[in-house]
Amino acid sequence: MINNTNFEIMRTKHYFPNVVFEVWSNFFVKFVRSIDEIQRKKCIFSMFSSTSGRTTNSLFDNMTLKLFEWNHRELVKSPLNYMGGKFKLLPQIIPYFPKDINTFVDLFAGGCNVGINVISRKVICNDIINYLIDIFKLFKNNTKEESISYINSRIYEYGLTPKNEDGFKLLRNEYNTSHRPLDLFVLIAHSFNYQIRFNSKHIYNTPFGKENSTYNDVMKMNLDQFIDRLHEIDITFTSNDFRDVDLSGLNTDDFVYCDPPYLITTGSYNDGKRGFKGWGDNDEYDLLNLLDNLNERNLRFALSNVLCHKGKTNDILIEWVNVRGYNTYHLKKNYSASSYQTINRNKNASDEVLITNY
Ligand SMILES: C[S@@+](CC[C@H](N)C(=O)[O-])C[C@H]1O[C@@H](n2cnc3c(N)ncnc32)[C@H](O)[C@@H]1O
Repeated sequence: MINNTNFEIMRTKHYFPNVVFEVWSNFFVKFVRSIDEIQRKKCIFSMFSSTSGRTTNSLFDNMTLKLFEWNHRELVKSPLNYMGGKFKLLPQIIPYFPKDINTFVDLFAGGCNVGINVISRKVICNDIINYLIDIFKLFKNNTKEESISYINSRIYEYGLTPKNEDGFKLLRNEYNTSHRPLDLFVLIAHSFNYQIRFNSKHIYNTPFGKENSTYNDVMKMNLDQFIDRLHEIDITFTSNDFRDVDLSGLNTDDFVYCDPPYLITTGSYNDGKRGFKGWGDNDEYDLLNLLDNLNERNLRFALSNVLCHKGKTNDILIEWVNVRGYNTYHLKKNYSASSYQTINRNKNASDEVLITNY
């Protein structure tokens, strides 16, 4: 029988077994049977509470996240609800990461879902969108109280509610002249689909989110946990094109993770119309060359990507993996979907992968 103390140790210790997702449900049943009544109620409650019974898939996603957390450490979700964010895939990705990492480099950090959760002595997060990186730097350097009270004061000052589009536009104008990083955070929290979009002159121009995007309780909780974690770990932020990040000082106990824009999908950060360069064949080749260089230096890397998506295939990537002989792990977008082969039969589905050289 697992008592309370053991249960806490199990939840927090930095160890995880090989999570075999095909049998997660068996594992779950065994786990639930092995804990006492009170803990069982707590577990079931924590799994169901954030899904509110919406869909079976979100319930399975949530259970898988919880399973991972019990054996690893509490996962923190980026407060930015970042498009293309890897939060839900972390339980499938992190088990493939090396166990002992000195410096973890996230070249395409985006919402920082990966860098904030990885276990390593030092974390370096890079993204080309400097305005995004400025937010993270401020969250790191401010006290939590300073950041949260600034955010609350701006929401109050501009009367931001799910209906007040004028207030949103006023703050957007203000941000586009002053570029105060936390004003951008407030704007994102009230923007259409929480998207971050700039025009070619770097004017933030995402439309108002109305009822669909608000600074809600979940976002507040994510922000709270995110800032705490930023303060707990040794993390630094840079804002460069990935080609300009200096990787020359890395050693064999360091690790580079890449989650670039996907060549065959479209996000607002890779369509080339948002004030930042898009993502095309040349970028793809440059990144693959960079990874080959790391491999030649015996440095470990992992690359997230899709091999196919809605009928398109990334032939550059497929050929590269085949020629180089790197390892490809097929991930499940929805854990309830049965197997990779089943996914492949659906021409609208994606084959989301993690490619590693170790
Ligand atoms: C898929 S998102 C990363 C999401 C992130 N892993 C997460 O979980 O939140 C890809 C990121 O690459 C960034 N990016 C695009 N082109 C880049 C470049 N040339 N150099 C560095 N970052 C770039 C985009 O701004 C975007 O934030």
